[in-house]
Amino acid sequence: MRIVVLVSGRGSNFQAIVDNVAAKNLSVTCTQMITDNPNAYAIHRAHNAGIPVTVIDYHAFPSRKEYEVDLLLALDELQPDLIVLAGYMRIIGKEIVLAYKERIINIHPSLLPSFPGLHAQAQALAHGVKVAGCTVHFVDEEMDAGPIILQRCVRVCDDDTVEVLEERILAEEHIALSHAIQLFCDGKLKICDRRVFIL
Ligand code: GAR
Repeated sequence: MRIVVLVSGRGSNFQAIVDNVAAKNLSVTCTQMITDNPNAYAIHRAHNAGIPVTVIDYHAFPSRKEYEVDLLLALDELQPDLIVLAGYMRIIGKEIVLAYKERIINIHPSLLPSFPGLHAQAQALAHGVKVAGCTVHFVDEEMDAGPIILQRCVRVCDDDTVEVLEERILAEEHIALSHAIQLFCDGKLKICDRRVFIL
């Protein structure tokens, strides 16, 4: 199975995939990392891992539509079996969603459908939830709303800051994302009426 990983910044989830592949805990080939951000720290991680990088600088395009034309072209050249959004901070447009229907997954740092969008961990703290976590889901045309593959939860402690909670959730993200990729690659995910069943 060939995966392409889209990243916008730090890339710790990307690194977890790379490490799991190296440790033979994940049996996929990461053929490319694509980033919308020429300054993403994840680029260094990809170079260190010997994974080719494509930079498609979002801000170099006059519109999101034009950016997405280039992104779709890049994806089509790579022919991935699965596209993994690992800290990719942009909405995937309709054309790409349709071209790769049920072949794009995303990691989000909340227990969806709670706290979609940006700053999910801060939203969770502001709401005083006692349990937080992360979600891996298929990507559809709505933001952070596609069928849920799996979730992992963490405690929220009374003295948590946003940074502390982010770290606790991130550790679970690193496990959840690779697990979901492996399930997909093993053909164990079945979507029925917007629900994902693990076979
Ligand atoms: C992660 O917490 C990821 O869940 C989140 O961005 C962070 C990226 O960290 N993604 C989103 O919020 C997407 N809606 P990383 O670059 O170290 O993997």
